[in-house]
Order: sequence, then structure tokens, then C-alpha cells
Amino acid sequence: MWWENEFLRVKNRKLYLARKQATQVAGQFGTPLLVYSQAQILTNYERLRDAFSRHTTLETRICYAMKANPHRKILQFLRQKGVWIDAVSPGEVEEALRAGFPGQKVLFTGTSVSGEDIRRVFHCDGVVVNIDALEQLELMREIKRKAFREKKIKVSIRWNPGIGRGFSPRVVTAGKRSVDGIPIKFGIEEKKVFEAFEKASTYGFIPVAFHQHLGSGWVKEDYEIVKAAVGKMAHTAAQLEKEGFRLEFLDFGGGFGPKYAKDQELFPLERYVAHICRQTAEAGLKIKAIAVEPGKYLAADAGVLLLRVEYLKESYGQLFACVNGGTYNCLPRPAIYPQAFHEIVNCGHVHGGKIRPVTVAGNLCETGDVFGKEIPLSVPQRGDILAVLHAGAYCRSMASNFNLREFPKEIFI
Ligand code: LLP
Repeated sequence: MWWENEFLRVKNRKLYLARKQATQVAGQFGTPLLVYSQAQILTNYERLRDAFSRHTTLETRICYAMKANPHRKILQFLRQKGVWIDAVSPGEVEEALRAGFPGQKVLFTGTSVSGEDIRRVFHCDGVVVNIDALEQLELMREIKRKAFREKKIKVSIRWNPGIGRGFSPRVVTAGKRSVDGIPIKFGIEEKKVFEAFEKASTYGFIPVAFHQHLGSGWVKEDYEIVKAAVGKMAHTAAQLEKEGFRLEFLDFGGGFGPKYAKDQELFPLERYVAHICRQTAEAGLKIKAIAVEPGKYLAADAGVLLLRVEYLKESYGQLFACVNGGTYNCLPRPAIYPQAFHEIVNCGHVHGGKIRPVTVAGNLCETGDVFGKEIPLSVPQRGDILAVLHAGAYCRSMASNFNLREFPKEIFI
């Protein structure tokens, strides 16, 4: 199947998770169950690391966007590999430290940051604070003056380059306004970037990096726009250096990921990495490192959600597989983003047999609580186990206990 990888294999029409049949794993641990694969995370990490090492001799800082999945074992595993962390709240920063990351390898990129957030992050030694607004910088100055006067604090400036891209308007994080009309809150606008660097130095912070994050879930057709934004950033970084700011690294954020659906065309990662490396070299930057912040890329295809079919229901000509978990508490993406698609397979019968369009319905009181609409599935029976793929990123981490439904169990294999 197009989605088979280190983790997911089909043998004799049955889905295997690593070496075990998915139905057996479900039987052993119960459902709903989220299963994460160390081997697949490693494969994704190495593919990305190796792409950079083919195109640059600069140090590459792969900063895992832990918002995708902060499972402690995933964090600990990535830490052993030398990965850094992109954290977006004091809670994430503190969790990264608990998982053993040194503060020096944690970037904090907040939005609508409060004084309390800043104090908590300043208490964590070494964390690089990425500044989202000039006003955040003022707040940081006040707090530094009052309570952290002598502390050396490294900062980075997050700009909004005016161009963004993402699989849904809800996750385009740069530009002026999303196509569905939301003004975009992230980053510092282009004309204020120099002022931000200048003020950061004057206020006694140490500016070390320049950052952008354009959005999430890119596919092939996003490439040209993303490419233009990379060029723009390298060019602006060169101007900053000319003005005398010494940058230690450029951070290009996340956004690239696996393909979620058969008919999607994969984002050309190798070309993207080559372009980043070429642009930074051609701009003559004196940086020491390049950073990226993958969330989906590392974790999405390293997870599946297993659900049990309680019964099949026919209504007005539609066939529903009614399962023992809900989107909001297990895998909310299809309920939140109309553009989100997750492949679903019948674990005991991945292909063949009688195929019918099946709507996989969760157990929450919302019409949108369906994992997939009219998905061609080998018709399941009561007790069958379904696997929802690409459940490793932004599934458990975005889940709520709506309807007082419990969260799924999670295992890391
Ligand atoms: N860096 C920053 C500053 C970010 O805000 C994000 C994601 C990332 C990195 C990682 O992006 P990734 O490589 O995973 O695309 N909930 C949405 C995704 C929202 C992403 C927001 N920011 C989803 O389920 O698709």
C-alpha cells in the first residue's frame, strides 16, 4: 500500500505494527489505542538529517515541534539523537527539561505571551526566547530589569515575511490574512524587524537568530511559495548582518510533512533543503547553523489509532462503522479541519473482500465526529479493528475530554 513504512506493513492482507498484528496489539492493550513507533521516527529523523548533510557543512539544528506530540518517550528518544526542541508554552519548555533536554537546546516561540509566561521561561536557564511582537520585547525588558538583571538571555526574532502556506487556512501562520478571513497574529512585520533586533540588543538581550514559520502541512504545489519565502529570509538576514547583527543561526520553522492521502503529491523535501542551504550560502551569511522545526515530519506517520467497531449501521443509504472512540478525544483533526484527511484501514482485512464506502463514526455527540467520510473499506464486522493512520502528530496533543470521554491509551514501541 502507498502508506507502508518501517512501522506499518501488510502481510496476507493483515496490518502489522512492526512485527505484531495490529489486531493482536489491540487485543493486548485494549482500544481506543494510540501506537507510536520509534523505528519510524528514527527513519524520518535520519532522512531529514542526511538531506541537510548532503547540502551543507553547517551544523543543522533539528528542533522537534513538541506540540505535535509531547509523549515523554518520544521526547527522550529524540533527545538521545541530539535533537533540539521547539516549545510554544512554559508548560512545554518545562516538560522538555523534565525529559532531559538542556535549556540551551530549547527554543521558546510563544504568541500572546504573558508576563507570567516570561518569568517561567526566564527561570529555565539557557532557553532561547523567540520574540513574536515588539510589545513582547517591552514586557521582557521590564521583567529582566526587575528580576533577571544579570542573566544572559539569548533571543531570536520571529518575523512574518508576508507570505504563508498551509493545508488549511487555519494553519497558515504568515501573511496578512488567511483566505477564510482571519488576520494573522504571528510574527513581527517586515518593516519592524531591524527595530526589533536593535531594541533586543539595547535592552541587554543577546540576539542570536532570525526565525520564520509559514504554516503546516505542505504538499508539492506549495513549493514555489515556500521557496520564495526562503529566499526572502536569506536576503533579509544578509541585511541584518550588514547592519552589524551577528546571527548564530537562521530558523526556517516547520511545515513539511508526509503525505496523508494517496492522491496528494509529496512536498519535495530534498529540493527544499538544498534551496535553504544554497540561499544561505549565496547570501554570504556568517551563521554557524541552520535550524528547522519539524512536527508532522517526524511524528505523523509514526502513529496509528486503533478503534473497535461496535456495530454497523445503515441509514438513508449510508453505511456507518460505529467505533468505540471519538475524534475530539482521540484524533480531532478531521473534526477541526475540513481539509484534514486520514486514511483508515480494516486491520484484519486491509484490501480485497467486499469494498464499500463507509463513514467511520465516533462516539461523541457531534455530526462532525467522523474519522472519515465514505472511505472505501473492506466492509467491517462487529468487533473488527480499524486503524486510523498518521495519528502520530496533532492527535493526542490536541485532544479534549469532550462529553467526558476518556483519552486513548498510548504505547511507544
Ligand atoms: N514551529 C512553529 C513555530 C510552529 O508554530 C509549528 C506549528 C511548527 C514549528 C511545526 O509545524 P509542522 O512541522 O508540524 O507542520 N494543528 C495543526 C498543525 C498546526 C501547526 C501549528 N504550528 C494540524 O493538526 O495540522
